[in-house]
Amino acid sequence: MGEKLRSGDRRVLVLGTGGTVAGRAASAGDNIGYVAGQVGVSELLAGIEAPAGIALATEQVAQVDSKDMEFSIWCDLALRCAQVLADPAVAGIVITHGTDTIEETAYFLHCVLPSDKPVALTCAMRPATALSPDGPQNVRDAIVVAASPGARGVSVVCAGTVHGAADVQKVHTYRLDPFSSGDAGPVAFVEEGQLRMAKGWPAAGPAMDVLRELAAGREAPRVEIVLSHAGARGHLIDTLLAERARAVPGAIQGLVLAATGNGTLHHEIEGAAARAQAAGVVVWRATRCLEGRILPKAGDAIPDAGALNPVKARIALMLELLRIHGS
Ligand code: SIN
Repeated sequence: MGEKLRSGDRRVLVLGTGGTVAGRAASAGDNIGYVAGQVGVSELLAGIEAPAGIALATEQVAQVDSKDMEFSIWCDLALRCAQVLADPAVAGIVITHGTDTIEETAYFLHCVLPSDKPVALTCAMRPATALSPDGPQNVRDAIVVAASPGARGVSVVCAGTVHGAADVQKVHTYRLDPFSSGDAGPVAFVEEGQLRMAKGWPAAGPAMDVLRELAAGREAPRVEIVLSHAGARGHLIDTLLAERARAVPGAIQGLVLAATGNGTLHHEIEGAAARAQAAGVVVWRATRCLEGRILPKAGDAIPDAGALNPVKARIALMLELLRIHGS
């Protein structure tokens, strides 16, 4: 997209990755029968005015339905963000994304990027072709966050609410405001182009040193999530362990157990998890509860992931394994 830079303008770069925000349906009345990731990111900015003193630019990093998000796209995004954020003329970054895995991408970026400037991910629940699409307002609000002096860290901006990357979860399948930050609450609200803070900006993420591994093209360590539920059995875990024993390429290195309540496990899963630990697999527990954190107890055999949900715990464990096995 052509930039109209004036002297003194700061820049906000809008990176497109696809999602419903870029979705196209055959009919304007159809909010669910669309194909995600069709409209280019430059088109998503049509009619959106840049805040005063801000020049907007766009880049298409990917064009996917976020259910198909991949580690390779996360690496491309993280490396491009790190490069752009290092430019003193850049105020912040907006990333357009699907709602389905936006919390995962946001958490990954939160872990690996410096937090001194804002990176605002945004999305939509209705396709760009809808009678009344929600994307344009969300994109505009995210630009406000990315352009705001003092804003920092990775957030998800949707329906006028700014959620911290570590806290945000998609909790609704259909409504236009499908996210919650649970107990932690949102960081801020965007009201008519102004930020109203609810609490402080997120602190720096834990794994910035892993950017080096990503730049070196390291493969994602395989980390699986297994759910503990009524009637659960350990066969899935044992199958993964058998692959590992045969040294199948890409065999499991880490396992996140989506545990009940305060981190408890069906005894069959607990038994299989002990076999996984004995085989050298790093095993963590994350709660399947939507809110709250696992409170550790003395003698816990399997470390817990605190307040991280299972999909974010998987990312944290992947990054931990990259760090442990890094060059
Ligand atoms: C997606 O996540 O890419 C599709 C669904 C959405 O954006 O709401």
